Amino acid sequence: MKTILWATLTGNGNYAQSSPNNPPKKEALGDFAAHAQAAGNMIVGRRTFEGMQAGSGGGTFAGMDIVVVSASVKDIPGVTVVGSPREALSYLLDKGYQTALISGGADLHNAFLGQGLVDELIFNVAPVLEGKGLNLLIDAEKYQYKEVELLNFKSLGSGVVQLHYAISH
Ligand SMILES: NC(=O)c1ccc[n+]([C@@H]2O[C@H](COP(=O)([O-])OP(=O)(O)OC[C@H]3O[C@@H](n4cnc5c(N)ncnc54)[C@H](OP(=O)(O)O)[C@@H]3O)[C@@H](O)[C@H]2O)c1
Repeated sequence: MKTILWATLTGNGNYAQSSPNNPPKKEALGDFAAHAQAAGNMIVGRRTFEGMQAGSGGGTFAGMDIVVVSASVKDIPGVTVVGSPREALSYLLDKGYQTALISGGADLHNAFLGQGLVDELIFNVAPVLEGKGLNLLIDAEKYQYKEVELLNFKSLGSGVVQLHYAISH
């Protein structure tokens, strides 16, 4: 099973944080929905899932296998809760998925990246700059830098540019 990490970045290279005053661009949301539909699943951190529930994202993902990673919560109605990134992958692998879509947030992405569990990266760079920001990070003990292979790039419209990379293991 292939693992794809999908994330929106800012123009100054941070992990984008959305808020009511700075919502994600509709092009980025549409792209996420297309990848989630294609994969049939999404893996999200507990905080991002709570944000999805508070927003209007619920209906868009009806029928999809939503896997919430949490060390503190054991059960959420309507979704599968697991205790670690590896458990999330093993659940989706057992269900026969070809692709697992790792959907955020930063804490969860960094857990997958730090454990070397990501095969491909899809970064949508939004035309915004952030004054503060989160970073996506790989295992600092093992790597100072790690080269990745650019598979594709394209414009999604409204200034959003998509970069698609493969990570070798
Ligand atoms: N740029 C983007 O593409 C994008 C996408 C989605 C969200 N976001 C943004 O990201 C922010 C939320 O991200 P976040 O970093 O605060 O939280 P998050 O990654 O959504 O959730 C963090 C929680 O997930 C659980 N978790 C993470 N790693 C784990 C591990 N290795 N083992 C067990 N549980 C683990 C923990 O839950 P427990 O505390 O329950 O143990 C942790 O508190 C929001 O600002 C949102 O707007 C951005």
